[in-house]
Amino acid sequence: MSPTDILMTAPMMPIATEALDKAFTIHRLWEQPDQEAYLREVGPRIRGVATSTLYGRTDAKLLDHLPNAEIISSVGVGYDNVDAAEAARRGIVVTNTPGVLDDEVADLTIGLLLATLRKIPQADRYLREGRWPEAPFPLSATLRNRKVGIVGLGRIGKAIARRLSGFDVSLAYHGRTQQDDVAFTYYPTAVGLAEACDVLIVITPGGASTRHLINAEVLRALGPNGVLINVARGSVVDEQALIEALKSGTILSAGLDVYEDEPQVPQELIDLEHVVLLPHIASASVHTRNAMGKLAADNLIAWFQGKGPLTPVPE
Ligand code: DGY
Repeated sequence: MSPTDILMTAPMMPIATEALDKAFTIHRLWEQPDQEAYLREVGPRIRGVATSTLYGRTDAKLLDHLPNAEIISSVGVGYDNVDAAEAARRGIVVTNTPGVLDDEVADLTIGLLLATLRKIPQADRYLREGRWPEAPFPLSATLRNRKVGIVGLGRIGKAIARRLSGFDVSLAYHGRTQQDDVAFTYYPTAVGLAEACDVLIVITPGGASTRHLINAEVLRALGPNGVLINVARGSVVDEQALIEALKSGTILSAGLDVYEDEPQVPQELIDLEHVVLLPHIASASVHTRNAMGKLAADNLIAWFQGKGPLTPVPE
């Protein structure tokens, strides 16, 4: 039997690439100078796609080249890079990599929250620029005694909440539904949560249903001591409204790992001193990226061994 052909749209960790190379014939799309011509040539042979939430989109345009695709395996817990509805219409299974990055993302979130409140990157810049001898570094805000709202209390949201329980803060959350086993206060709207809190941590999935969930009204409700942390998807926050809110002092500061048009970041955000900006690194440790890559490879291997997808995306 000839080996199964898999289209890889973006580089993956060596641990994943090695496993896939052993099991399949891999076609590396990003290495092709003329991707359209390449897809016309190999597309009809392709039965699976290995892709990543961090690069490109797997949508109808790409799938039109792949009439025999059965499965799209995406690295990342977020899968807004895949048109899952279109894939479902074509009977193609979509998998992601949940579970293996919860702790890494939660750790980074706490780091970003403290960095934003205590202005750690700004203090580092201040020292390196030789400004310390001129004047003491401006005082910062405090995490203690704040009410922290989590927007999206899934697995990662709960891992963040567990870590925050070690700080002297009170917790609240907003999500689609109230969860019976969660002790802290539920708010049915993002505005309601923002009114009650002065720190908002956004960790809800991206996509049409959460687009601009954090808008000008929510930011106004968060108020002048308010701090916004976004480790979810750029699309969840109305970036222009956020820029306005930061410029006008409607909120105090923001810490962002994600943007609406990655890897482009609006110059207006870069120019602001009271934001901490990270290049989408919440899961970016060697350990966790290996685990994500391995799970993505295992999904393809299991599928073509007839064992079904290991971690299909929710319907
Ligand atoms: C994910 O897995 O969706 C993360 O955003 C990648 O860092």
